Amino acid sequence: MSIATAQAHPNIAFIKYWGNRDDNLRLPVNGSISMNLDGLFTRTTVNFSASISTDSLLINSKSITGKGLDRVSYILDLVREMAKINEKAEVTSENNFPAGAGIASSAAAFAALALASSRAAGLTLSEAQLSVLARRGSGSASRSIPAGFVEWQMGQNEADSYAFSIAPVDHWNLVDCVAIVSSSHKKIGSTEGHAIAGTSPLQNARVTDAPRRIEICRNAILKKDFEAFANIIEHDSDMMHSVMMTSNPPLMYWQSATVEIFHQVREWRASGLPVGYTVDAGANVHVLCLGEYAKDVEKRLREIPGVSNVLVAGVGGGARLV
Ligand code: DP6
Repeated sequence: MSIATAQAHPNIAFIKYWGNRDDNLRLPVNGSISMNLDGLFTRTTVNFSASISTDSLLINSKSITGKGLDRVSYILDLVREMAKINEKAEVTSENNFPAGAGIASSAAAFAALALASSRAAGLTLSEAQLSVLARRGSGSASRSIPAGFVEWQMGQNEADSYAFSIAPVDHWNLVDCVAIVSSSHKKIGSTEGHAIAGTSPLQNARVTDAPRRIEICRNAILKKDFEAFANIIEHDSDMMHSVMMTSNPPLMYWQSATVEIFHQVREWRASGLPVGYTVDAGANVHVLCLGEYAKDVEKRLREIPGVSNVLVAGVGGGARLV
């Protein structure tokens, strides 16, 4: 086989990945936990062919060159090395996230690329090997390979830093209501952020404490204890942003509406609504709730000034061939 198509979902981290012990290999300084986001996906086709002379990349019908293509070729090189082939590849990718949705696409993109490219090269990799390969493209992509609720263990080395499911899709009906907060500021991407995480004096404390947070979060998910879950995801997100804000240069991703949502979410929870927030490297707020409250949460979020849209996603499956 020299052509294959795969599909993967983005994911939202509950315990965050921020900082690497090896930036090139994307070996993280701490483990992380996430859930895949159903409904949103990237679909990628890889075609290795002897008749083409360079790798090419088309995303949503737009030709990508430069750094974007280099990052894809880096994964293709790893695959060519494993499969002992040297054909160049045509990569065509589409994602269905609404434009400007502010959902990081690299996790779904590199998970789909790892699966499609390895299959197109004739390899049948295990889930763990696929997760390792996706990780080399984007750390969080390691978590978009397995289904449902996922943990990425930091591991000891290159081969054992991969992600696995801790609970299947139907384990717990959690819904992510993503409040899109408009931002005119140009953001510093995750890759640059990871590289400066160690400049914050708070990073050491965050990393040392990570096993405790992972344990609490994993248990909350396994026991479906929403109160414990909401408290730990907010705590972990606030800790990561404390590191970001105190890095050199400092990274301030929040907008005023971001903070307004934090206050509202905590008030709603205090009055009995099961909700909790978490924020990635941007201004958008992911508000997690139990499925039966999603409509109500979506409506409340839309009423907050500064919120331009709300995306709603349940728990998603793993990367798969199509
Ligand atoms: C804040 O996986 O996007 O979303 O490995 O450089 O591609 P690269 O970084 P990326 O970092 C994700 C950072 C985060 C937290 C998380 O998803 O765990």
